[in-house]
Amino acid sequence: MSAKNPIHTIFQQEKTRAEDLNITVEGLTFDYSRHPLTQKALKEKAAALMDRKVGDFFDALWAGKPVNRSEDRAVTHHHWRQEKATSAIDESRTRMKSIRQAVQAGQLKGPNGQPFKHCVHIGIGGSDLGPRLMASMFELCEAPRLDLHFLSNIDPCDWGVLLRKIDIEATLFIFVSKSFSTLETLENAKLVKQALSKYYGDDHQWAEHCYAVTASPEKARDFGLDAGHIFTIEESVGGRFSLWAPVSLACILSYGYDCYERFLKGGALIDAHMRETIANPLKNIPAQMALIGDYYRNQLEMQSMALIPYASALALLPNYLQQLDMESNGKSVSQDGHAIQLKTGPVIFGQAGTSGQHAFVQWLHQGTDKIPVDILCFKAMPFHYADHTEHLLTNALAQADALAFGQEDPAAAPYRQFEGGRGSTLLTFEALSPQSLGMIIALYEYKIMIQGFLWGINSFDQWGVELGKKLSKAYFAKNKA
Ligand code: F6P
Repeated sequence: MSAKNPIHTIFQQEKTRAEDLNITVEGLTFDYSRHPLTQKALKEKAAALMDRKVGDFFDALWAGKPVNRSEDRAVTHHHWRQEKATSAIDESRTRMKSIRQAVQAGQLKGPNGQPFKHCVHIGIGGSDLGPRLMASMFELCEAPRLDLHFLSNIDPCDWGVLLRKIDIEATLFIFVSKSFSTLETLENAKLVKQALSKYYGDDHQWAEHCYAVTASPEKARDFGLDAGHIFTIEESVGGRFSLWAPVSLACILSYGYDCYERFLKGGALIDAHMRETIANPLKNIPAQMALIGDYYRNQLEMQSMALIPYASALALLPNYLQQLDMESNGKSVSQDGHAIQLKTGPVIFGQAGTSGQHAFVQWLHQGTDKIPVDILCFKAMPFHYADHTEHLLTNALAQADALAFGQEDPAAAPYRQFEGGRGSTLLTFEALSPQSLGMIIALYEYKIMIQGFLWGINSFDQWGVELGKKLSKAYFAKNKA
């Protein structure tokens, strides 16, 4: 190992580092040893976070205070994963279960008496990325009762191709939009309304094919949806934090309520971990993720981080976390309205493992930037064939060690040297399951919130998406004139 490999040097100095820098929670082993950060530095960072009173921030958040200051809103998405919930949440849960039971019994039918065979989820951003990821996970556990499709972009080809795949007379459409004013979603919903109206004429029967999930039920009613077909979520449930809410309806109807409950449980387990350990950041996983990420951003000035989940079902996790992280912390003005002097949210990219090893891992090992990598792996998978699970696990571990410790072979040509010193965090779960997906998403939510707190930014608004929307609306109107 090269003497200039700081990770190797630290492992030499801290003989029990591998054991010390592990946190175990509910079957997850969080190994944060492979970073060029001494335990002394980690302790200092944890102490500084405590001095900043990070616990008070979460006490305020969990108490429903308006921590989203620019919108004067609370942050309440975690309510949807708590077993004991509000009456409104319980009512939504009961409705979702009942519709799912009708689907299972083949009793959920269109006005033409045909049982629904297909389900199309229509939404974009936080109203799309999470359900797509969830469907990839849930299909490992259950065969779909409804053939599930997603429509998000305002690309006519998506609708054209979809029409070849569905029997529209036997299709249930779920419009998901917090604002019920997002261009892409509304224009796609109009295509649905037009296509269904071909069968039912001007009769309102088209609406019997459609449900909506929104924080603007009055707009859904104005669009023509029946009140009994609308699920309302609170404005305090952020779009990119809304997977816990009925935004997941299409997945629930297609794959079952049980999968959804297991997913919620994973999130609730991390809520409990947060409450139990946020006072001691050294034992709090999201705090360690946040502090290590801040070290790479503001001390090593690394602009990005990679994510490699060793499970095909999590192939969309990097996409999901791109919005969750970059729309939350891609900010340069503080909650107090001052220009930020720090580096804030990183660029998030990644692919499922081992596929990513055949894509960008060369860059990780021998590129000029030593960015941090989160590697997620699973000891058990819902399917077992040959040694596939073992190969996934050993590849994940091999990547973490190769990045950190490298391999120097004096006889090898320079381009075959591996200097190492490239940090990674290894998250090893007992099993790939809806519960572990819930844990993963909640962990990253809290990591992002702690980083936002650390940098003094608002992780819960997204004013930066407004100008593009405004200009495109004006250009469209001009072109149409
Ligand atoms: O990208 C902007 C954004 O508002 C996201 O925050 C949100 O998830 C997405 O658009 C969709 O918004 P809505 O759920 O209101 O349609």
